[in-house]
Amino acid sequence: MARSTHKHHSSSTTKLVFLISCAGLLGAALIVDFLWASSSYSTAAAPYLSAASKWALQKSGIEVVPNVTLADITDKRKDVKDRAERTRERYLPATYADLPAPELPWEEMPPAPVPRLDGAAIQIKNLLYVFAGYGTLDYVHSHVDVYNFSTNTWGERFDMPKGMGHSHLGVATDGRYIYVVSGQYGPQCRGPTALTFVLDTETKTWRGMPPLPSPRYAPATQLWRGRLHVMGGSKENRHTPGLEHWSIAVEDGKALEQQWKTEIPIPRGGPHRACVVVNDRLLVIGGQEGDFMAKPGSPIFKCSRRLEVVYADAYMLDDEMKWKVLPPMPKPNSHIECSWVIVNNSIIIAGGTTEKHPVNKRMILVGEVFQFHLDSLTWSVIGKLPFRVKTTLTGFWEGWLYFTSGQRDRGADNPQPRKVIGDMWRTRLSL
Ligand SMILES: *[C@@H]1O[C@H](CO)[C@@H](O)[C@H](O)[C@H]1NC(C)=O
Ligand SMILES: *[C@@H]1O[C@H](CO)[C@@H](O)[C@H](O)[C@H]1NC(C)=O
Ligand SMILES: *[C@@H]1O[C@H](CO)[C@@H](O)[C@H](O)[C@H]1NC(C)=O
Repeated sequence: MARSTHKHHSSSTTKLVFLISCAGLLGAALIVDFLWASSSYSTAAAPYLSAASKWALQKSGIEVVPNVTLADITDKRKDVKDRAERTRERYLPATYADLPAPELPWEEMPPAPVPRLDGAAIQIKNLLYVFAGYGTLDYVHSHVDVYNFSTNTWGERFDMPKGMGHSHLGVATDGRYIYVVSGQYGPQCRGPTALTFVLDTETKTWRGMPPLPSPRYAPATQLWRGRLHVMGGSKENRHTPGLEHWSIAVEDGKALEQQWKTEIPIPRGGPHRACVVVNDRLLVIGGQEGDFMAKPGSPIFKCSRRLEVVYADAYMLDDEMKWKVLPPMPKPNSHIECSWVIVNNSIIIAGGTTEKHPVNKRMILVGEVFQFHLDSLTWSVIGKLPFRVKTTLTGFWEGWLYFTSGQRDRGADNPQPRKVIGDMWRTRLSL
């Protein structure tokens, strides 16, 4: 598997060649005003991936966990590059990034009351709280829907507070209180808010918190050792990756400090990553640099596509409070901030987006379920989703892996994003 998993990278260096040769054809289509369906896009990107990775690693003075050496990582990247060169001439089908994966028997459950893209979710016991999200590019939700795993029904619905972001939120829970940090305020590619809130799930009441020092889109967010940690994400323009990392002491839904404290910056910035605390360590997995931005001068902040680099990187913080590099995901993966669950000392991640197609530049969704084994620090691909889908909202209850919402593909042969969904599915996991 290890070999085939790098297939997706295969023409990272073809990009430049391709972009130069077809620059004329693409012409004015450099900025494409369409978030939902991916389209051709702009900037000459080629050396960015490896340069950015190298830069990230050098800059952060990263430490390396035992048995995962920096040399391993560097070698892999070199390997990827070589292969990219070898396959430059080869035609790549639209579905080239799919990894071999076993079929899983998926069962369709009651769909969410509304479709949602870039929403957020938190599971507390048998309840999945599903927040916000785009219904369409021009309409965002301002409420929470709750799914009951015991009855397999959608039940409660309640409003979010005024001023809370509608997408790209950072969320975390201690089992009763749900912290909702920053995010985008409004539809299309509007600006972010730094406002931060806490929901008491027992009383269904909201409270304010000190706002984040600067607003972020889809920052990695987790509770760890009594502090709410927020890092990465995109900066105010929605595109520039943030490296900053802040934390604030919290207890029972209240901030114990007036201000956020600056923590060690994350080695690589950007939004849409899984952020997981497990075995008293904080892990940040996958994500991307760059995102759609508001078209300059557009009164509705119309989204326009920009360069994005999706990555597979995984990093970890432990007692030493220094970032350590973990083995990367089997392929670059982003839009997974609420797409993970912890099961049997492993992290399960469902769906996402990977690097764009090297030839046609279309956005490519991910249809696999990944498992990161926390004992051996290894990845495997454990199955296929019923379709490729990004920003899934996942839960795990009594042996069942659930996912709902997101944006699914155009069909088995076409991994580009299309329909925003509210579907709920489950499959019995046997790890
Ligand atoms: C890590 O390296 C040590 C020493 O080389 C070895 O004994 C151990 O089995 C390795 N662990 C894994 C998980 O590969
Ligand atoms: C979820 O379903 C269980 C089983 O019927 C029920 O006891 C519980 O009250 C439900 N929770 C909510 C919040 O509706
Ligand atoms: C987790 O491990 C337990 C004990 O080995 C096993 O019974 C259970 O089936 C595992 N869960 C899953 C989802 O595989």
